[in-house]
Amino acid sequence: VDALGVAVIGAGYWGPNLIRNVQASTDCRLQWVCDLDVARAQRAVGAYSTVRISPSLEEVLADPAVEAVLIATPAHTHLRIALAALEAGKHVLVEKPLASSAEEGAILVASAKARGLVLMADHTYCYTPAVRRIRELVEQGELGEIQFVDSVRINLGLIQPDVDVFWDLAPHDLSILDYVLPQGMGPTAVAAQGADPVGAGRSCMGYLTMPLRGSAIAHAHVNWLSPTKIRTTIIGGSKRTLVWDDLDPVRRLSIYDRGVDLDVAAEGETRRQALVSYRTGDMIAPALPEREALREVVREFAGAIREGRAPATDGAAGLRVLELLEAATTSLARGGALVPVGTSTEVAA
Ligand SMILES: NC(=O)c1ccc[n+]([C@@H]2O[C@H](COP(=O)([O-])OP(=O)(O)OC[C@H]3O[C@@H](n4cnc5c(N)ncnc54)[C@H](O)[C@@H]3O)[C@@H](O)[C@H]2O)c1
Repeated sequence: VDALGVAVIGAGYWGPNLIRNVQASTDCRLQWVCDLDVARAQRAVGAYSTVRISPSLEEVLADPAVEAVLIATPAHTHLRIALAALEAGKHVLVEKPLASSAEEGAILVASAKARGLVLMADHTYCYTPAVRRIRELVEQGELGEIQFVDSVRINLGLIQPDVDVFWDLAPHDLSILDYVLPQGMGPTAVAAQGADPVGAGRSCMGYLTMPLRGSAIAHAHVNWLSPTKIRTTIIGGSKRTLVWDDLDPVRRLSIYDRGVDLDVAAEGETRRQALVSYRTGDMIAPALPEREALREVVREFAGAIREGRAPATDGAAGLRVLELLEAATTSLARGGALVPVGTSTEVAA
């Protein structure tokens, strides 16, 4: 099969990672790098590269050799750039977050659908070996019924000029939730608490609390102000509990056969004491392959285009994440009230 002709738009902090993985992929042929700052685009491909450089999106989109574009510009530009690419008949991969509102995200989803083009959100973590394994474990019932998800993503982060910490960091946690939870189990509402103790003008740290289907709950802690870096997610199930520490390369995943059982049959008797029993079984740490997630992202994008199917993290997944982020923003404005998640997914479907 012929390699897919692609262009990367945006060669700032993240774009060069896309460029490197596209260049390493036999599925793709990098035709253009587009950035308003041409020197930056040139640096990203190297001085002797034959990849063409342009500050003009129009010039890139006019080239019929470009079949697909990967967009790594700031979130507020995603709608305009992605829409122009779709209207030019190109398949599109957009960095997280898919757009800067659910309304914008719905426009992109509808546009791609109308044209039969692939729209993919780069929810990078969903392509890590750890998250793929978590999804399998949940799907195969290894954890039992999911009872809670608790995730911490904190470090000394770059305080972003245009978005708060929720829009910067929580897309990771929310896209992981969307990917690993059984279908239909995702958050129904969001309560958000944020703080700006350094006077940046937007939340620099905060907490999202999200009821899940049944009596389960998810929580995410995101923070730009922490001197230490923590990337840990705990998923508690009725059978087993999983701990994912993304900073521990030798033991990223640990599965604990430990938990609490309540004997419902004994109800009514000497409740408090008799009913609770604790299981203390083994812990296992599954071996995981070491693979760069972005390589899998590029492979999935090219595969979806070639096979004419939706990618694992399609526009609809990007839109579900936007709806959660929007509910979080509304909740912040309402002092942390629980805000139901919007309905634009159904509108766009
Ligand atoms: N998947 C991940 O883990 C991950 C990590 C970091 C950033 N990101 C995402 O990547 C995107 C870019 O973030 P960044 O940190 O690289 O930003 P950045 O500001 O470092 O780079 C953005 C680049 O886009 C260029 N640009 C802006 N508007 C343009 C336009 N209209 N046409 C062409 N070029 C344009 C800028 O000149 C700049 O070089 C964001 O959506 C961000 O959320 C994703």
